[in-house]
Amino acid sequence: MKDIIVFGAGGHAKAVIDTIEKAGLYRIVGLLDGYKAAGTNVFAYDVLGSEAWLKTQGKSIHKGIIAVGDNWLRANIAASILSVRSDFTFVSAVHPSSSIARGATIGAGTVVMSGAVINSDTSIGEHCVLYPHTSVDHDSSVGSFVTFAPNAVTGGNVKIGDYAVVSIGAKIIHGRSIGEHTVIGAGSTVLTDIPSYSIAYGSPARTVRSRVAGEKYL
Ligand SMILES: CC(C)(COP(=O)(O)OP(=O)(O)OC[C@H]1O[C@@H](n2cnc3c(N)ncnc32)[C@H](O)[C@@H]1OP(=O)(O)O)[C@@H](O)C(=O)NCCC(=O)NCCS
Repeated sequence: MKDIIVFGAGGHAKAVIDTIEKAGLYRIVGLLDGYKAAGTNVFAYDVLGSEAWLKTQGKSIHKGIIAVGDNWLRANIAASILSVRSDFTFVSAVHPSSSIARGATIGAGTVVMSGAVINSDTSIGEHCVLYPHTSVDHDSSVGSFVTFAPNAVTGGNVKIGDYAVVSIGAKIIHGRSIGEHTVIGAGSTVLTDIPSYSIAYGSPARTVRSRVAGEKYL
């Protein structure tokens, strides 16, 4: 098993660690988290330090995964890791009870949790999170740093831009586009295209306001 580092030591990290353990492909050497004291632990994995650790004690570790729930924060952490270690690469974590259909692809750093379904010929970008029981149907295209919260569902041929969030229980019918940095609110039913940098919710979902990159949604 290859050694990896997990970035993040909060509640989301627990779910990612469980996914990695169930997949059984990597050995977690420890956790890096700039906000937690070195020596604290999650599921018996110690926090070793912050990203800087990779440049000092962690030179022999070349792979890892970012276990932070917020899309924008995950992107900033990815950039900061690559700025100290340009040789570093990200692994994906795929729960054995999820299903990735024929022709579907997922990018580096993406986490696919229990019961998630990615259907035929759908592409999912880098550093996305598909929480339990999400479903992205056939021939869809999903950007990078996207979140599908638990039970979020799409029909086929949808397009989802970078940094978008499809919140808990939201549904998007086939063929629709969701712009980058857009948040679809919990429980929504999306029947129309939703532009970039927006917050939309309701059934049917309406765009209620604009948002800026990095604005909190959790
Ligand atoms: C859409 C969302 C981001 C909030 O947007 P917001 O513009 O900040 O909304 P506010 O919380 O200020 O609420 C404004 C109004 O919209 C309503 N509203 C907010 N979210 C709504 C939703 N998903 N569906 C219907 N109405 C909603 C509120 O009840 C409130 O109504 P009121 O003015 O009558 O009191 C948030 O409600 C949401 O759905 N988050 C989902 C988070 C999630 O799924 N997390 C899991 C990630 S793993």
